Amino acid sequence: MSARTAIALDDEMRLDHGSLDQLFVAARTYSKWLDRPVDEALLRELYDLAKLAPTSANSQPMRLVFVRSAEAKERLKPALAPQNVEKTLTAPVTAIVAHDLEFYERLPKLMPQADVKSWFAALPAEHIERAAFQGSSMQGAYLILAARALGLDAGPIGGFDRAKVDAEFFPGGTVRSNFLVNLGYGDPAGLFPRNPRLDFDEACRID
Ligand SMILES: Cc1cc2nc3c(=O)[nH]c(=O)nc-3n(C[C@H](O)[C@H](O)[C@H](O)COP(=O)(O)O)c2cc1C
Repeated sequence: MSARTAIALDDEMRLDHGSLDQLFVAARTYSKWLDRPVDEALLRELYDLAKLAPTSANSQPMRLVFVRSAEAKERLKPALAPQNVEKTLTAPVTAIVAHDLEFYERLPKLMPQADVKSWFAALPAEHIERAAFQGSSMQGAYLILAARALGLDAGPIGGFDRAKVDAEFFPGGTVRSNFLVNLGYGDPAGLFPRNPRLDFDEACRID
């Protein structure tokens, strides 16, 4: 393939400006929500995209609780930092992005060609925890992008009491919360101007 053909193919494969805007350039973190519900079919579609995130040994440690009913929101409320209460209670859905510390139990299904379960299970607890946290962070980031791809808006939230959320939603003790993602259709009236991002030269180098 000539260099010219490769460049033409790359151009064809690029997302158009509208798609890049929807996923990145115009996408924002929302705290105010339009009065428009999010149904279960859309949440299932959302997971079916987010689950395709790459994870270590395809381990997929993320576990999600979609907090949607008024009762479930009330259970979440006591764990929220005061500045996050209103934006979270008014969001049509709040996803609790969590990870299963025993994620390796599912590896015979998820990577059947190798015995990675016994390899993971033998690791010290802090390595397991790091792998689980890394994986759910990765999958949680994909969840945000998947939401945007489906026309939803997202508002990630880290200001909450993890121990309270874990006790309330994951009493078994092996699943730990990582962060929350408020989901719905954002109200642009609640946005402040976008804060700057680090420039390439501040954050990156090419060695
Ligand atoms: C892990 C994480 C935790 C966050 N925690 C909070 C939070 O507790 N409360 C809040 O209002 N926003 C929170 N945010 C939102 C960020 O402040 C926001 O994404 C960032 O300022 C960029 O905004 P923009 O996407 O509109 O440019 C959090 C974002 C992430 C990814």
